[in-house]
Parts: sequence; C-alpha cells; structure tokens
Amino acid sequence: MERNVIGIFDSGVGGLTVLKELVSLLPKSSYIYFADTLNCPYGPKGATEIIRLSKAITEFLIEQGCSTIVVACNTATAAAIDYLRANYPIPFVGMEPAIKPAALATKTKSIGVLATKGTFKGRLYQETTSKYAANINIWYQVGSGLVELVEQGKSDSHEATELLKKYIDPMLKKNIDHLVLGCTHYPFFIPVLTDFLPKNITIVNPAPAVAKQTAKVLAQMQKPVDCNNGEEPFVQFYSSGSTETLQRLVNKIEQDTGIPFGNKTFNRHTLF
Ligand code: DGL
Repeated sequence: MERNVIGIFDSGVGGLTVLKELVSLLPKSSYIYFADTLNCPYGPKGATEIIRLSKAITEFLIEQGCSTIVVACNTATAAAIDYLRANYPIPFVGMEPAIKPAALATKTKSIGVLATKGTFKGRLYQETTSKYAANINIWYQVGSGLVELVEQGKSDSHEATELLKKYIDPMLKKNIDHLVLGCTHYPFFIPVLTDFLPKNITIVNPAPAVAKQTAKVLAQMQKPVDCNNGEEPFVQFYSSGSTETLQRLVNKIEQDTGIPFGNKTFNRHTLF
C-alpha cells in the first residue's frame, strides 16, 4: 500500500526543533527525519551545492515513502525549495523567514535577525524584508560557529553564551525588542538566551508556525497520513554521519518537554 509519511530534513539536528512541534501537533503521524550530519554546516556553502544535497535527500525520502517534505532548514529553504517544488510532484513546506510577525509586533521599530550566510543571501529573506519591514530597522547578524556548537552538543556551554553575546550585544545597543531566530539550530540556545537577554526582548521562533502550515498542507491532500496504527508517532531517524548527537538530543527533547517521539529507530545512510 502507498504510504503517506512526512519527511523532514536539515543539515543536522536543527530540524528537531521543528519535528518537536510537528509531533506535538500531529502525534499519530509517521515521520522520517534526515540529518545531513556529514555535510553540516550548510550555511557557508553555495546554492548549487545545497541544491545537490537537498535533491539527494529528497529522492531518498521519496523512496522511503514520504509524500510531503518539510525542509526544516532555513538555509536549504533559501537555496533549494524553488528547485524542489519545480522538480518533484509532492508538497514541500519550507521555513518562513519570521520577519513578518516581528515587524508587525515591534514597538521600538527595531528588530534583530540571526541566521546563516546562505539564508541572508536567499530571495525569501530579501522579499519578506522589503514587503513587511520597509519602515523598520533590521539588524542582521550571521551566526558563524553557532550551528557547530549545537552539533557538538555544546548549546548551553560558556563558549555558546560568549558567542551569542558577541552577536547580540550590538543589536541590543540598537534598541531591538524582537530577536528572530532564522536558523532551526538556534532554538537550542533559547535557555541560554533567556538567561542573558533583557526581559523586554521577544524571541521569535518560526517552528510552531511551520508545523501548523504542514498540518494545513496535509489536510488538503487527498490521502490520509500514515498513522502507524494511530497509537503514537513513529519516527525513523537517518543521518549521513554519526547519529550520536541526534540520539542524545531526541532523548533530551523527550525528557524536557514530555513530548514522546514514540517508536523510533536511528540509522546511517550515505547519500552518494
Ligand atoms: N538548521 C540550518 C538552518 O536552519 C543550519 C544551517 C547550517 O547547517 O549552517 O539554516
């Protein structure tokens, strides 16, 4: 029987921040999560290379029975989602640059955005900025080194706090009242950020909105989502490299949030 599994991918563990929202919204679905650990980080890579990697991951996910794919990576969305939508006959949900909600809510008319180099170069960011934030000051910062810290399991380290302060302090001097997390790895820093950011700063994480959009797309599809007996989620995790951080963070998310990922398997898959 044809399956309808939700595929989700990222350069590494960042997409787990989106998977967590998906599982909480659609707990009875089956998921296949692909972490391209071997090729992480995507941020400094050119668009051609990111399209090549996204294409290989998409083909693998489709072969495994996925009929909807969430590109849970801002950098891959920026570089590859137009290509994927034009070349594969299934729906793709991408990461939305969360500039719009921040621009609508800011009182100081000043917002900060932290993302990768590749994300800032993309058409989506440029379009969203000119559409919604023309009368607002936006302070952009490339978060070099942050993805690597999350991948090394160091999101709550002293090193992470220092690097985040270095990137965000200049924005605070510009009187921002919203900080947009433009990379799916960055919500892992929310506990550290909450500790040092002034209380008037709102952290904007687009993951819940992306999960809602995915639910909407699935509701519009003709075939029902693969339900794994309707009991609990079933997540198959694949990594192109080590699955160690993936396993550790999945367990941590389950413990911290109480959201069960249900039955799960961890596997390695070489892309090329
Ligand atoms: N999680 C990816 C994103 O949202 C990280 C990019 C990277 O690997 O540099 O952009």
